[in-house]
Amino acid sequence: MKGERLDRLLARLGLGSRKEVARLVRAGRVLVTGEAVRDPGFHVPEEAEVRLDGKPLLLRRHHHVLLHKPGGYVTSRAEGPSVYALLQGFPTRDLSPVGRLDKDAEGLLLFTTDGELLHRLTHPRHKVKKRYLVHLEKPVNPEDQRAFREGILLEGRKTLPAELIPLKDPTWAEVVLLEGRFHQVKRMFLARGNRVVYLKRLALGPLALGDLPRGEARPLTPGEEAALYQAVGLSPESASRGLT
Ligand code: URA
Repeated sequence: MKGERLDRLLARLGLGSRKEVARLVRAGRVLVTGEAVRDPGFHVPEEAEVRLDGKPLLLRRHHHVLLHKPGGYVTSRAEGPSVYALLQGFPTRDLSPVGRLDKDAEGLLLFTTDGELLHRLTHPRHKVKKRYLVHLEKPVNPEDQRAFREGILLEGRKTLPAELIPLKDPTWAEVVLLEGRFHQVKRMFLARGNRVVYLKRLALGPLALGDLPRGEARPLTPGEEAALYQAVGLSPESASRGLT
């Protein structure tokens, strides 16, 4: 049978669990290209227009969710407390994190269902900037700045040029990386004889954490989504279909 099951599609759009959306369907609240469909197992053709209570749904092929990760959560499904516990209401089964944040780190964590987007955002070839706020045991100095710019040897491989911008209190700084190696920020400071005591990701490419409260998640806006796809040389149209 071609097409996606109606209940799976509605659940994937975040309209409720499979059980909840099946109830909406049985109640006759869902139209598929003008026809009320009461069978949750109905297979929705690729080009169909779907309405709920008369309102057209944006049939998205992909979802992207921005989370303000709090400290104490693990970027993993297997270990807990898991960041996935903070994504209730989103199609968590299909969402993967774009890079990881350490358990004690907080800030912007993006999830996406689009494997190609994920690959490009995390591959150093695309040089997507990641901006962090750090608090350090000791003040940063101009030598550290130079070392970050020139690259630091981690496991025999130099890091890509990174920016290190001390703030007014030089035990605080912003760091901008073009790649995301394991514990990279912490290890770069350790190599300089310093230690990170607090780490927060502020931005990923064109996405900023902004004032999203800690522990909350939201879908990307259409503008953010377009900017993200553009940043890695993909067409934003590849993210959605059936715009109504
Ligand atoms: N660098 C780190 O050391 N930890 C993170 O969580 C992210 C970047």
